[in-house]
Amino acid sequence: MIGIIGALSVEVEGLLTKMKIADINTIGGMVFYTGEIADKKAVVARCGVGKVNAAMCAQAMIVSFPVTAIINLGAAGAIDNTLNIGDVVVATDLVHHDVNAGSFGYLPGQVPGMDALPFPADERIAKSALSAYSATFAGEAKVHHGRIATGDQFIEDADVKQHISEEFAALCVEMEGAAIAQVCYLNRIPFAAIRAISDKADGSAQANFDEFVAQAAENSAKVVEVMLGEMS
Ligand code: ADE
Repeated sequence: MIGIIGALSVEVEGLLTKMKIADINTIGGMVFYTGEIADKKAVVARCGVGKVNAAMCAQAMIVSFPVTAIINLGAAGAIDNTLNIGDVVVATDLVHHDVNAGSFGYLPGQVPGMDALPFPADERIAKSALSAYSATFAGEAKVHHGRIATGDQFIEDADVKQHISEEFAALCVEMEGAAIAQVCYLNRIPFAAIRAISDKADGSAQANFDEFVAQAAENSAKVVEVMLGEMS
């Protein structure tokens, strides 16, 4: 069974309309839909915004359902200025941009005691996502394969954006991915993140997010749906 986590309703509702829902469970106030998408067994959850919600949802999913992999989907703000609204990002790895215990000798983004920095995404799933993208978007949105940075902040300030770019070399920023990646790393569950750009994480971010989040959510969900269909 594949687990899929999105933060907002708009990020999971596209997939839910494609799902043959067999059961609905609420755990810790979060709703988990089980059933089939493209004839593959899946559980889809909306975790809410931020790292605590995301981590809690991932752990609840792992202990409550027989998931063999977890995919995080949704919108993201562009950190790399070559990315455009609607473009898809398939993560190579993920980092917490708001973690810093440098006084104790840890690197920026490193969670004290954790041996992984950044948290890796599963290469096999990432490859399937990239090929699903090619089958889905002929010449429209572009696909990028690189690092995603995560933190408990909506990034809409050019200086903060520049800091995340320089410190972490991330393509885009969002508020859940690295938390789910960390939970999957600790549980040895393969993890992938597929996000699409809703805004440029600068002064225009809030207005652009409102305007484009639905399109971004649809783009990332499309890749996940096609990928599930192609999986053996
Ligand atoms: N998700 C979408 N856009 C974002 C931004 N600018 N900052 C953080 N998370 C986001």
